[in-house]
Amino acid sequence: MLSYRHSFHAGNHADVLKHTVQSLIIQSLQEKEKPFLYLDTHAGAGRYLLNSEHAERTGEYTEGIARIWQHPDAPEQLNAYLSAVAALNPSGNLKYYPGSPLIARHLLREQDSLELTELHPTDYPLLRNEFLKDDRARVARSDGYQQLKAKLPPQSRRGLILIDPPYEIKTDYQAVVDGIREGHKRFATGVFALWYPVVLRQQIKRMLNDLQATGIRRILQIELAVRPDSDQRGMTASGMIVINPPWKLAAEMEAVLPWLHQQLSPTGTGHTLVKWVVPE
Ligand SMILES: C[S@@+](CC[C@H](N)C(=O)[O-])C[C@H]1O[C@@H](n2cnc3c(N)ncnc32)[C@H](O)[C@@H]1O
Repeated sequence: MLSYRHSFHAGNHADVLKHTVQSLIIQSLQEKEKPFLYLDTHAGAGRYLLNSEHAERTGEYTEGIARIWQHPDAPEQLNAYLSAVAALNPSGNLKYYPGSPLIARHLLREQDSLELTELHPTDYPLLRNEFLKDDRARVARSDGYQQLKAKLPPQSRRGLILIDPPYEIKTDYQAVVDGIREGHKRFATGVFALWYPVVLRQQIKRMLNDLQATGIRRILQIELAVRPDSDQRGMTASGMIVINPPWKLAAEMEAVLPWLHQQLSPTGTGHTLVKWVVPE
């Protein structure tokens, strides 16, 4: 089933959290000259037109990236992320939103490489076209979970693996844990970053329990909620689970999350969280 289209949601509060974490990890990996691999298992279309019918129908970006991208008081931890957004919108009007592959493309260096997979028949060609002239990138229409076996470990022995499925099928909550177990078996020192939505809190608790049961250590949880948990329909929060986070990441997110929460939930509902699920 491939009914999910990220174009309805691009630039929403969940993307802001995900792409902030992604860009901070990339910056940390770049503190060393050695190259690294950026592997994006569920890459999406790459670029999203914000005045498209899809984005305008939900208007989610108006309560996400639109609130922060030109904010004069944006904390420095957002610089890299917001520079990728600005690079796509040189006119100063917010027309396009960069998905995770375009954020990586903007931040990665000559020596780094990208492996991107996307299954959707419409989004895959859009993604491939974005990278036609980029020698650092390989784009494939294949199952992202398989890449965790096929592409790891990378030759460089350094890397960020972003796992960002749509969770449109319930089995995704188990598939991400199985995929991480496989990936970690092959590349125990890699940085794995898994995005999750909070729709039903119980699903996330179960997923975290399953992750703990793998025996993998150094698991950090980062969460941004714009509403309290609810048993009604809809996403109230989202989070990132980061395995082997760069040493600064927890402190950086603790510094930036209160500001992000203030902008993205102006009435103050919801919460933020930075917590070790499994320490060293
Ligand atoms: C949440 S979106 C990705 C957004 C993107 N990572 C970003 O941050 O800009 C999830 C994507 O995964 C794709 N997808 C679903 N199942 C997949 C699979 N098994 N392998 C690869 N891609 C898949 C969907 O078509 C969708 O475009």
